[in-house]
Amino acid sequence: MAEQKEAERAAKLRDLISDYRYNYHVLNKSMMSEAAADSLKHELSQIEDKHPELITPDSPTQRVAGQPLPGFKQIPHSTRMLSLNDVFNEEELRAWVARIGKLASPSTQLEYFMDIKMDGLAAALVYENGVLSQAITRGDGFVGEDVTMNVRTIESVPLRLRRTKESEKFLQGRTEIRGEIVMYKEDFKKLNERQAKAGLPAFANPRNTAAGTIRQLDPKLVAARPLHFHAYDLIRENRDEMPTNDFVYKTLRELGVIANSIASTAPSEAEIRKFYKRWEDKRHDLPFNTDGLVIKVNDRRLHERLGVVGKAPRGSVAFKYPAEQATTKVKGILVSIGRTGAATPVAMLEPVVAAGSTVQMATLHNEGEVHRKDIRIGDTVIVQKAGDVIPEVVKPLQELRDGSEKRFVMPTHCPDCGTKLVKAKETEAVWRCPNNACPSRAWKQIQHFASKPALDIEGLGEKNVIALIGAGLVKDPADLYIVKKEDLLALERFAEVSAGKLVEAVQDKKNPPLPRFIYGLGIRHVGIQTAIDLANHFHSLEKLGGATIDELSKVEGIGGVVAEAIVEWFEQPDNKVLLDKFKKFGVEPEKTEAVKGPLSGKNFVVTGSLESMSREEAAERIRALGGTFQSSVGTETDYLVVGANVGESKLSKARKLGTKQVGEKELLKLIDPALTANK
Ligand code: IVH
Repeated sequence: MAEQKEAERAAKLRDLISDYRYNYHVLNKSMMSEAAADSLKHELSQIEDKHPELITPDSPTQRVAGQPLPGFKQIPHSTRMLSLNDVFNEEELRAWVARIGKLASPSTQLEYFMDIKMDGLAAALVYENGVLSQAITRGDGFVGEDVTMNVRTIESVPLRLRRTKESEKFLQGRTEIRGEIVMYKEDFKKLNERQAKAGLPAFANPRNTAAGTIRQLDPKLVAARPLHFHAYDLIRENRDEMPTNDFVYKTLRELGVIANSIASTAPSEAEIRKFYKRWEDKRHDLPFNTDGLVIKVNDRRLHERLGVVGKAPRGSVAFKYPAEQATTKVKGILVSIGRTGAATPVAMLEPVVAAGSTVQMATLHNEGEVHRKDIRIGDTVIVQKAGDVIPEVVKPLQELRDGSEKRFVMPTHCPDCGTKLVKAKETEAVWRCPNNACPSRAWKQIQHFASKPALDIEGLGEKNVIALIGAGLVKDPADLYIVKKEDLLALERFAEVSAGKLVEAVQDKKNPPLPRFIYGLGIRHVGIQTAIDLANHFHSLEKLGGATIDELSKVEGIGGVVAEAIVEWFEQPDNKVLLDKFKKFGVEPEKTEAVKGPLSGKNFVVTGSLESMSREEAAERIRALGGTFQSSVGTETDYLVVGANVGESKLSKARKLGTKQVGEKELLKLIDPALTANK
C-alpha cells in the first residue's frame, strides 16, 4: 500500500518536473523557481533511491536538458559561452581554492575577483570599431540567437562605445562584451501591478520576464519593458590587452557599460568568505535578484591555462547562497491573533530547510489570500524565505494533489478567547479579534512594548511574557510596572537574581523617551519614524492623544490612513484605561524637545547598499542628529544618498525633482559626530 502510494507520487513528480523543464528551457516560461524544482527532484530521487525499480528511463533524474530555440537567426559564438560550477558552502569553496592552488604553479600568489551573480539572461554584444553590430543570446553556448534589434532598445547598452584615453584601443576592431540582461525587482513589481490593473495574468519572475521580453518579435514591445545590461566580460582577439578581470571591469566602465561597482578583488580565501557573508543579507537591497557570487581567478592568463571541464571553466565558480525556496507539505492551517487583533492564517509545515534555516510555519496573510492562492491542507507547496522576511507560501503544486486535500475554513471566533471575529469595514481583508483582553493579543502587545526599538526592556522574551500572563500577573504592558519580585519568585521560571533583574529593568523604564513610548503602544501603521515625527510635533502624549485627524495630517510624513488609525486608537475605551493605568503606576514618558542636531530639518533617502553600515544603522545615525529618514524620494527630500548597485527609479525621481545626490563618503562626513559637533 505504502509502495503503491510512493509509485503514484513518483509518477506525479516526474510529470510535473518534466513539464517544468519543458516550459523553462523551451518555452521560457517558469512554473516555479529552480530551487523549488530542485526540491521536487530531490524528493523524486529519494523515492527512486529507496525503490530503484521505480526509475524510468525518462525520469528527470536521468536526463540532461538543453534544446536550441527556433524563431531567431542562429549565430555561432566567437568563443563558447560557458556555465559555472557551483559551490554551496565554505568546505566546497576551500576545495576549489585548493584545487586551483595545486594547478597553478606553487609560487603563484593567487588573487581572486568577485562579483554578484545576477539572475537574468546572458548576452554577448559585438562591437565593430566601437559600434554595436550584433547582440546574441547564450543559446546552447556554441550557437545563440540574434536579438540585436531588441537589445538595441535597452538604454544601458551603448550603441557606440565611449572613447577615452584608456578605452581608445578597444574601439578598434572587434570587441565583444558579455553580461547579463536583467529586469530590476522594482520594475518587475510595477509591471505586474500594471498587468493586474489591466486584468492580465502576472509574470512569474524578473528573469523569465526579461528572457521572454528579449525574445519578443516586436522591438517596440521590448522598448516598453525596462531592461538593463550589466557586463562581466570583455573579449578581444589579443587576450593580453586585458591582464586581469579587475582591469576588464574598469575598462568596461570606461567604455560606457555598467559593470557592478560592488565587484572587487580578494587576496585570499578568507576575504572571499567575508565578501560572501557581507552580501548574504545586503543582496536583498540590490536592484536585481541574485542567488550567489561569481568568484574568478583574477589573472586572466592563468584563468585560461586552468582550462575547461565539461561546460565550466576551472578558474571560476559560483558561490551560491542557500536556496530560498523549497517544497514541503501543509500539515494544517492555524489562525494566529496578532498584537492589533488581526487574525492571520498560518500554514503549519513539514519542516524544510530554506535560506539555510528550518521553516515550519509560513504566513498566509489573510483569508482571501488562502483562497486566491487556493492553498489546501495536505497540499505540497512552494515556500520561500528571503532575508529577514517571514517565510511565505508562494503557491500550491496542484498537480500533486491526490484528492485528500482539505479546503481551509476561516473560523468565525477567536481561537484564543472565543470572541466573535469582526471586520472594521466590509472591504477589509483582515478579520480581527476585537477583545483587547485577548491573551494572545496581550502577549504580543507586551512583547512589542518591551522590544528593542520600543522600551528595550531586557528579560521579556516570549516565554517569560507567556509565563507572566499565564500566572495572571499582567494583562497589558502597564501591568508590568506593578509586578513585584515576590510575584516572580512564585513562578518556576524565575530565581532570586533573574526576578530582581527583571523588576529593575522594568522600573528603569518609567520615563522612556516619548518616541519609543509612542511606538511601543503598537498603534497600527505607526512605525519608528512616524513615532519620532509625532513626538517631535506634539511633544507630549496628552497633546498627541487630543489631536484631530486634520491636525495629525498636517504633520509631515503622516497621511490620512495613519491619522485615522491614531485617532481611532486614542478613542478606544480600553486604550484610555491603559493610558490611565500607566499614569497611575507612575509611567511618564520624557517630554522631549525635537532632537536638535546638525541634521535637523533635513530629509534623507538612501538607495542601494552602503559599504560601511546597514540601512537601519544609517537611519539611526541620521535620526540621532535630528534628521529624518524617508523611504522614498519626494519634494521635501534634501539628500538622496546613492550607495552601490542602485536601481534607476529613485535616481530618476531625484533627477526629476532636482534632489541633491550624495555618495556614502559625503553621508559619512555629515553623520560623523567628530565632524558635525561644532556645526
Ligand atoms: S562571469 C563562465 N559574472 O551566470 C561564465 N557570470 O552560470 C561566467 N552570470 O552564463 C561568466 N552574473 O550569464 C559572470 N557577475 C557575473 C554573472 C555571471 C550572472 C551568469 C552568466 C553565466 C552564468 C553561469
